[in-house]
Amino acid sequence: MDAITTELTEEAKYEVFPPDLCQPLVFCEIFENDFPIEVDLGSGSGKFLIDAGARFPNRNFLGIERLLGRVRKARRKACRLNLANVRVTRLEIDYAVRYLLSPSSVTRFHLSFPDPWPKRRHHSRRLVNDAFLRAIANALIPDGELWVKTDHIEYFHQIEKAIASVDCLFTQIPWEDEYPATDFETEFMAQSLPIYRLRLGKVSRSPK
Ligand SMILES: C[S@@+](CC[C@H](N)C(=O)[O-])C[C@H]1O[C@@H](n2cnc3c(N)ncnc32)[C@H](O)[C@@H]1O
Repeated sequence: MDAITTELTEEAKYEVFPPDLCQPLVFCEIFENDFPIEVDLGSGSGKFLIDAGARFPNRNFLGIERLLGRVRKARRKACRLNLANVRVTRLEIDYAVRYLLSPSSVTRFHLSFPDPWPKRRHHSRRLVNDAFLRAIANALIPDGELWVKTDHIEYFHQIEKAIASVDCLFTQIPWEDEYPATDFETEFMAQSLPIYRLRLGKVSRSPK
């Protein structure tokens, strides 16, 4: 094998290629440990994924991203830093959350700067709606959390409305600046633009 092929083979170890698109991912096989799982939805070029993985070595981080170039960048960085607790997968978020995450398997989801689709005729393309929130709640462990950040005030209000409409599945909890900034967040902060944040805890229902 030449040097480039060897490098690509090493980097590919940081990407998850689901063996079966009809079966949930098995995290203890992917990460070879039982650390808590955090999922970055729309991980972009992987800044958050990599910095969070380095900051919290006892948590596993999975990035979900549909653009090939961004997935490649993220896995390259994870490989260079030898981050055993970081993986990225090239998938549609909605499909992955619904069909590839086992119930009660994820400790935290991070949804940072989801595409806002500002034109009214494109609003149906937005990720967050009732069905999506229900799928998120299903994949979360009983005390699991969803952390949301956006620069788009109108989408933020729509997310708040969607949360209110899903029968008390989530409760709002105080934000904490525990995590590194994402790529978009860094850009927006540099321009002093407002960022809207929500930290939601899954409401556990006691069995009847
Ligand atoms: C605005 S960027 C934010 C990237 C990163 N979260 C950040 O804060 O820097 C949104 C990212 O989500 C990805 N994305 C949007 N919709 C997606 C979907 N349905 N499935 C997978 N990735 C998606 C985009 O390709 C893009 O990389």
